[in-house]
Amino acid sequence: MILKIFLTLLFLHGLVLNASSSSSSSEEEDGGSSEKESGEHHPKGVPHGGHWGYEDQAAWSSEFLHCSGKSQSPIDIDTRRAVYDRSLPPITLEGYDLTDSSALTLLNNGHTLQLILPNTMRIVSGFDNEFRAAQLHFHWGTKEVPGSEHTIDKVHFPAEIHVVHYNSKYANLSEAATKSDGLAVLGGFIGIGLHENDNYEKILSALTDVSIEESNTEIPAFNVRHLLPNKLDHFYRYNGSLTTPPCFQTVNWTMFNETITVSRRQLAALEDTLKAGQHQHLTKNFRAPQLLHGRHVLASFTDTPTIVVAGRPSISINTLSETDASNSEGPSTGPSKGLARGDILAIAFGALFAVTLLLFTLYAYQQRKKYSVIKKDSRQNVIYKPATKEEA
Ligand SMILES: *[C@@H]1O[C@H](CO)[C@@H](O)[C@H](O)[C@H]1NC(C)=O
Ligand SMILES: *[C@@H]1O[C@H](CO)[C@@H](O)[C@H](O)[C@H]1NC(C)=O
Ligand SMILES: *[C@@H]1O[C@H](CO)[C@@H](O)[C@H](O)[C@H]1NC(C)=O
Ligand SMILES: *[C@@H]1O[C@H](CO)[C@@H](O)[C@H](O)[C@H]1NC(C)=O
Ligand SMILES: [Zn+2]
Repeated sequence: MILKIFLTLLFLHGLVLNASSSSSSSEEEDGGSSEKESGEHHPKGVPHGGHWGYEDQAAWSSEFLHCSGKSQSPIDIDTRRAVYDRSLPPITLEGYDLTDSSALTLLNNGHTLQLILPNTMRIVSGFDNEFRAAQLHFHWGTKEVPGSEHTIDKVHFPAEIHVVHYNSKYANLSEAATKSDGLAVLGGFIGIGLHENDNYEKILSALTDVSIEESNTEIPAFNVRHLLPNKLDHFYRYNGSLTTPPCFQTVNWTMFNETITVSRRQLAALEDTLKAGQHQHLTKNFRAPQLLHGRHVLASFTDTPTIVVAGRPSISINTLSETDASNSEGPSTGPSKGLARGDILAIAFGALFAVTLLLFTLYAYQQRKKYSVIKKDSRQNVIYKPATKEEA
């Protein structure tokens, strides 16, 4: 009986260890691609000078020095390490509703699907200056490989949207791109939902018109605000870079916490329609997450508020949510204001460890009594190695 409890506790240890080091195995390296880089060419006047592709990201920095800088993007956003900053100002957009404006140019530039935006679209508050929109574009993968650039706790989303803005104190995007306070990108994670996203369809329905690299088309203008999440006041903020060469470290990044959803069919259209070069599909156009090098990620929000009972922070127990059914941590410790998740895990582990040790001692004692008559020296073989790596 005691043995059974002991084994159960060992199992629980495993779960706690798992929870505290979850996801360290999903290191992303855009590998395993058998696709060949077919000679890319670039339109005259596009600011990147050389040839580059997503298959050889490690080689970017040999031609584009900034790509090996210490403030590169994208990054993994570790939600437990994000620092809540209540002073982060909310983002206010103006001029995003382009209904009744003139048509917009949509293009396949060989690296992404891009929509050119008028500079009347602006971020009027949220930053120290006003920022004007220049273009928006997407990053995606394949049916098998989710292609967001940023990751949340090492997990990729199927796709990501970037709305690129430049500081209105500069003349245009290319001038601002080299200035330390030059750019602000609003990013959103795109996931799969049950319903067709009518707003995304305004772009996606024109995909076949730009399937060839360097082709473009005109699409009717619409309310671009609807491509972003409803809720703009929950976001992550950090200092980073362009995620493509020349990788200038001039981007004030905002990644929204609320995700956008499109239907499976719509995502498949994005993944399957565009071509780069003659025969190659334009897919997996995402850069691998870059090292933080000491940077901090700020969050404009905290997790669900914790009820404070009698002056002490209570530990909230997460019930498994339907979206999180694969997470088998069991009755895990929920994030709370007073205690970081890591602390709670440490306490849980400590308690489990103590109980296990106690029961093991009992068990060993019992066994010793049982067998001491038969095998006098068997005790020497009992080696117990306490786990020591739990706080890694
Ligand atoms: C990004 O914007 C925030 C909010 O205005 C500001 O505090 C921060 O200094 C900006 N970062 C850079 C690199 O300009
Ligand atoms: C951007 O502005 C700079 C400075 O005014 C100018 O020299 C350059 O031609 C502009 N570039 C584009 C693409 O409009
Ligand atoms: C980003 O850089 C600016 C300017 O150097 C600095 O004031 C700000 O604190 C940085 N933001 C973060 C989140 O580190
Ligand atoms: C949104 O925030 C919650 C709470 O921190 C976090 O669990 C979730 O992963 C975040 N999702 C995204 C897409 O940022
Ligand atoms: Zn991008």
